[in-house]
Amino acid sequence: MSAETLVQILYLISTALFILSLKWMSDPETARKGVFSGVGAMTLAVVGTLTGVLATGGTHYWWILGAFALGAAVGYPLAQVPLTAVPQRTALSHAFGGLAAGLVGTAKFFLYYGQKNEAALTPFIVVALVAEILLGFLTFTGSILAAGKLQEVKWIPQRPVTYPGQNASNLALFGVALGLGVALVLHPLAPWAPYAFGGIILLSLAFGVLLIIPIGGADMPTVISILNAYAGLSAVAMGFVLNNKLLITAGALDGSSGLILSVIMCKAMNRSFFNVLFGAFGQTTAASGEGEQKAYKADTVESAAMVMEQANLVVIVPGYGLAVAQAQHKVREVYDLLKKKGVTVKFAIHPVAGRMPGHMNVLLAEAEIPYDDLLEMDEINGDMPQADVVLVIGANDVVNPAARSDKNSPIYGMPIIDADKAKAVYAIKRSKAPGFAGIDNELYFLDKTFMLFGDAKAVMGELARKLAGEGGH
Ligand code: TAP
Repeated sequence: MSAETLVQILYLISTALFILSLKWMSDPETARKGVFSGVGAMTLAVVGTLTGVLATGGTHYWWILGAFALGAAVGYPLAQVPLTAVPQRTALSHAFGGLAAGLVGTAKFFLYYGQKNEAALTPFIVVALVAEILLGFLTFTGSILAAGKLQEVKWIPQRPVTYPGQNASNLALFGVALGLGVALVLHPLAPWAPYAFGGIILLSLAFGVLLIIPIGGADMPTVISILNAYAGLSAVAMGFVLNNKLLITAGALDGSSGLILSVIMCKAMNRSFFNVLFGAFGQTTAASGEGEQKAYKADTVESAAMVMEQANLVVIVPGYGLAVAQAQHKVREVYDLLKKKGVTVKFAIHPVAGRMPGHMNVLLAEAEIPYDDLLEMDEINGDMPQADVVLVIGANDVVNPAARSDKNSPIYGMPIIDADKAKAVYAIKRSKAPGFAGIDNELYFLDKTFMLFGDAKAVMGELARKLAGEGGH
């Protein structure tokens, strides 16, 4: 078997593993297998490339091994971040992917340009090169900024930054970049070509920033998955430039899954896909959070325990605060105790509760809460009026009724869990601070709502003790 055939076989197996990985990752039961097959696919891709280099007598395999070591040295600590920081970590991965594509495209262009290699710089390859650097560098700066926003880095504004004529100026800049691209396709070896190429790089870097700054916190998850799609598409373009089929298929899988996820999340948040794609388009007016201070009613964990053990149906709404507090095991204890007392307990899972898709499912699965009791928003909302108690644990935006009624709210139109329709509401949070979207929550001011202020793990621990009859009541 020739070395080339071996490389193609390795790439083929790698492609199959990437596809299986995506399939397996779509179900919690097989997700772990999916992760391993993704790792296997990536390893085979590197081994295949290395084999190709060695077989052709190339001496630059040290670069590949060096990059492998460097990647592992950066990747390992990055993988150790807590679950709550996974979205920003993912954004950083996209940034690296985009930067790699951009740099490879730049290197290839200047290599061919330096060689005056007209045969290599065909219109098709130049189109691919322009797409690769445009998407690659845009993904790089856009993802760094998105990661910074999610990490709440001080010098990055959390609120949307908007100014008059934003869309028009963005479109004009995009037009200039496209114009330079067309000029390059027509005259790739012109004396001004390197400047045009550099101009596209600078515009793409700026574009990444300009696309992200007008987007507020509530749309960040969707933006991350759109950037995922851009990184995938730039890899596809890179695959055409390098004539590497594996890059084309893996990039297409990455790009299309990112796009599909973005569309799913747009639906979950009732956002128009194009609004999110083009940032400032259709931006809602600023948050109306600074109204008069309304009164909260705090209650004791003891009386919450008494109400809950009398209930027929208790619906628990988990949110980001549950993840921060790592309260999942305490939640499991409360779940077990209530079930033992004959109370039906269900979990209402909002598709964007937490900070990444599936965040709540992962947490609750860790505490081995049966999947059957985890209900999607659409499945549970119809039962909300029958719920005797809704227990909101560190969730805020996903139960904010302003999404249904306040046209000026940044989350207006986002589907929510109808916690306000239950007979009584208990809400656990540490303070009166707003949630991710930075707005007050009407739910907390309703007559039937009682606040249990404190850390979710501590409050749930105390609730478990009261329900177990310890500390007596
Ligand atoms: P949030 O609206 O962020 O509310 C979380 C609440 O948890 C806060 O009000 C906070 O109040 C409380 N909290 C924080 N730490 C706590 C602790 N240790 N113990 C008890 N409470 C604690 O969360 P959500 O309702 O889950 O909504 C998710 C939001 O994030 C949405 O706006 C969504 O669009 C956005 N988002 C989602 C994703 C995805 S894909 N899931 C990704 C990025 C952003 P205190 O500070 O007073 O405790």
